[in-house]
Amino acid sequence: KKLSIIGMPMDLGQMRRGVDMGPSAIRYAGINERLKPLFDEIHDLGDIAIGRPEVIVDQESNLRNLDLVAEKNALLAEKVDEAVQAGWFPLVLGGDHSIAIGTLAGVAKHYKNLGVIWYDAHGDLNTAETSPSGNIHGMPLAVSLGIGHSKLTEIGGYTPKIKPENVVIIGARSLDEGERILIKEKGIKVYTMHEIDRMGMAKVMEETIAYLKERTDGVHLSLDLDGLDPSECPGVGTPVIGGISFRESHLAMEMLEESKIITSAEFVEVNPILDEKNKTASIAVGLMASLFGEKLL
Ligand code: ARG
Ligand code: MN
Ligand code: MN
Ligand code: MN
Repeated sequence: KKLSIIGMPMDLGQMRRGVDMGPSAIRYAGINERLKPLFDEIHDLGDIAIGRPEVIVDQESNLRNLDLVAEKNALLAEKVDEAVQAGWFPLVLGGDHSIAIGTLAGVAKHYKNLGVIWYDAHGDLNTAETSPSGNIHGMPLAVSLGIGHSKLTEIGGYTPKIKPENVVIIGARSLDEGERILIKEKGIKVYTMHEIDRMGMAKVMEETIAYLKERTDGVHLSLDLDGLDPSECPGVGTPVIGGISFRESHLAMEMLEESKIITSAEFVEVNPILDEKNKTASIAVGLMASLFGEKLL
C-alpha cells in the first residue's frame, strides 16, 4: 500500500481566513508519523501553490473567486490524477471544501462508477442560483454531479464526475432550500443526524457500505470536519451544533477500513485560527489512522 499526501491550502471557497493553514495544522498534528506504520511507502508531495490574492470578489455571478477557485482546482486535479495513475492512494488535505471539485476531477476519470461518501453537516449542493452566500465551498457536490458554472463542472475536461445514485451524504443537519429540492429530484441517499441518532452509526455505515459496494468500483471519502460536533471539532468555519461524535466517527472510519471500499480521501475545512490547541487537526489525523487500519491491539 502506497500513500500520496497532497496539501491544498485553499481558502478562496469561503470567507473565513485561516483554512488555508489546514494542511500545516494537519502536518503539525503528526500525520506522517502516525500513518507511517500503516503503509509500505508514503510520499508527502507538499502543498499546491495557491498564493495569497486579496479582494477578488466576483459578486455579480454569486460565485466568489470563481476564476481562482477553478484555476487552482485544475492544478489539484492534475496532481491527484498522476497519483492514481501511478497506483498511489491519494489523500488530500484541505483547505475549504471547494477543493473536492479538483480531487474528484482527478479521481473520477479512473472509475466507471465512482462512489462518494460526503461526511458533512452540509450538502454542498448549491449553485450560484441557490447559494445564500456565494461561497463555492457550498457547491462542490453539485459541481461534481455536473450542476453549476461550466468553469467548475468542466475541470479536467469532462462532466459529470459522479452519478447521484452513487453518492451517500452522512451527518447532514444544515441544508438550504435549493439543496433539499436537488436531493429529492436526484434521489441522493442522505443519512441526516436524525437517522444517525435513531439507527446508530454502526447501522448507518453497514447500509452505506452495502449500498455502495453493489453499485460502485471505487469510493471517495470527502470528510468535512464540520460533520463532527463543534464541541469536539471547533476549528471549522461553518460549525453547526448537534453533530457526529468523535467516537461515532472513529467507528465509521474503522468500518470503512474493514470494508476495503475506500480508494481516495480528503479531509477538509480544518481552520487552526478558529481551533483550540490544534484539536480539530489532531482529530482529523486520528480519523485518518483509523481509516487506514491503525489498531489498538
Ligand atoms: N450551505 C451554506 C452555503 O452554501 C454553507 C456551506 C458550508 N460548506 C462547507 N463546505 N463547510 O454557503
Ligand atoms: Mn460542512
Ligand atoms: Mn462541506
Ligand atoms: Mn479507534
